[in-house]
Amino acid sequence: MLKNFFSIGFLTLILSCQSNPEVVFTPSESEQFRPDYHFTPPAGWMNDPNGLVYLDGEYHLFYQHYPDSTVWGPMHWGHAVSKDLVSWEHLPIAIAPDSLGYIFSGSAVYDAENTSGLGTAENPPLVAIYTYHDAGGEKSGKSDFQTQGIASSIDKGRTWVKYDGNPVLPNQGIRDFRDPKVSQITQADGSKTWVMTLAAQDRIQFFKSGDLKNWTMLSEFGQGIGAHGGVWECPDLLPFKTPSGEEKFVLLVSINPGGPQKGSATQYFIGNFDNGTFTPDDTMIRWIDYGPDNYAGVTWSNLPKEQDRTLFIGWMSNWLYSQVVPTKTWRSALTVPRELSLFEVNGTLLLKSAPAPELEKMRADEIEIKDRTSNLPSQAFEILADLGGSDSFSVLFSNEDGEKLLIMKDQGLVSIDRTLAGKSDFQEDFATVHSAPMSWEAKEIRIFLDASSVELFVNDGELVMTSILFPNRPWKIVEVSESISDPKIYPLKIK
Ligand code: FRU
Repeated sequence: MLKNFFSIGFLTLILSCQSNPEVVFTPSESEQFRPDYHFTPPAGWMNDPNGLVYLDGEYHLFYQHYPDSTVWGPMHWGHAVSKDLVSWEHLPIAIAPDSLGYIFSGSAVYDAENTSGLGTAENPPLVAIYTYHDAGGEKSGKSDFQTQGIASSIDKGRTWVKYDGNPVLPNQGIRDFRDPKVSQITQADGSKTWVMTLAAQDRIQFFKSGDLKNWTMLSEFGQGIGAHGGVWECPDLLPFKTPSGEEKFVLLVSINPGGPQKGSATQYFIGNFDNGTFTPDDTMIRWIDYGPDNYAGVTWSNLPKEQDRTLFIGWMSNWLYSQVVPTKTWRSALTVPRELSLFEVNGTLLLKSAPAPELEKMRADEIEIKDRTSNLPSQAFEILADLGGSDSFSVLFSNEDGEKLLIMKDQGLVSIDRTLAGKSDFQEDFATVHSAPMSWEAKEIRIFLDASSVELFVNDGELVMTSILFPNRPWKIVEVSESISDPKIYPLKIK
């Protein structure tokens, strides 16, 4: 662990000096706000998670990455793998820009039957499907500068070869035409087909393919339905069972701007996907996370059957301020991995996001909270509490600089107040109280804290709020309201 820490710290320092020769940071400056257990790039810029795929015991995580700067730029796919969703091994950049453009967001699938012919029957390939963004074409006023390309790997994602027939899906003149999420769908006759869910400006377009190379359009969804305060991005199409055993599809659609807390957020629709067409059950606007900082999240493909779960991770930031947050040599972290499922409340189906159980492996010995207050031993911990039937609660964190972070539910509103939670002068909207309505009873809460984030899960994720923050010193004291019975604190550590 210590060895890892030093090597990553050292690498960060070298990379930061290389990319910006005038600025040299001390190790403590360069690492300030670096989370202990949330995924971050070793150095440079990161946004959306990409290409989430499981293969042979490894969770692959690719991500939008610009290694040469801490602001957005020519996009690459960074890469890391994990065996347990908690400790991540950084690997070399997987896919880099080429003459067709930057490598924007997309997905990856395991082509087990080698339908693409890019592997062999004995060694089927992983296939990445991503957007090419031709920055030159955009500058020169074209409208077809985003197309879809593919790349394949026959060595468990370690090296990637771009397909020589790229792009596999050209653009008919839609400026925002991106973020392909490919899944394998079983059709009515039992046969399987690849379905691509693609964001096309103010709607989703579905395409199908037998070989991941030739795509035909199936249908469109979403024009005039749902939230439209900004462009639609990073969709995902997910099969679920309802609590009563009915089959439903959930369509995730990220939107920027136009989220419930300003800037970026992810909405979802619940409905059916039959014969290549998505039909929503209703037109209610639902958000996967009511905090300001969970964007562009998507799910892992190819999880083994025995896992029987839908595993999600999001980018823990917001386009409103992601490029000016006060980290020095890297920017952005991802949320903790979460399991998605449908639940019903007051006759309405909603999506819940529960922390992945793997996170419990990080727990060190429990610390008791006595007389409703406790010292906090580290910057990374989890708090778990029952509300004993009282519905409202408050949890206040403070540090030696007098900074405060308040999390509460009162009169049907769940809030995270980060107005006094540390650095905030980098952007005018940052120091805000974020609230979300929760009309049903809050029974228990789970809060994950790390150096620069808080994630609140009420009732195991029936309501979630994710927020980043930049306290000048770690939180030192926690105080909880009387309504909180038997609270537990677990310091968290990657073992
Ligand atoms: C979402 C997004 C995607 C795009 C990528 C570019 O955050 O704008 O739509 O593919 O970022 O980095």
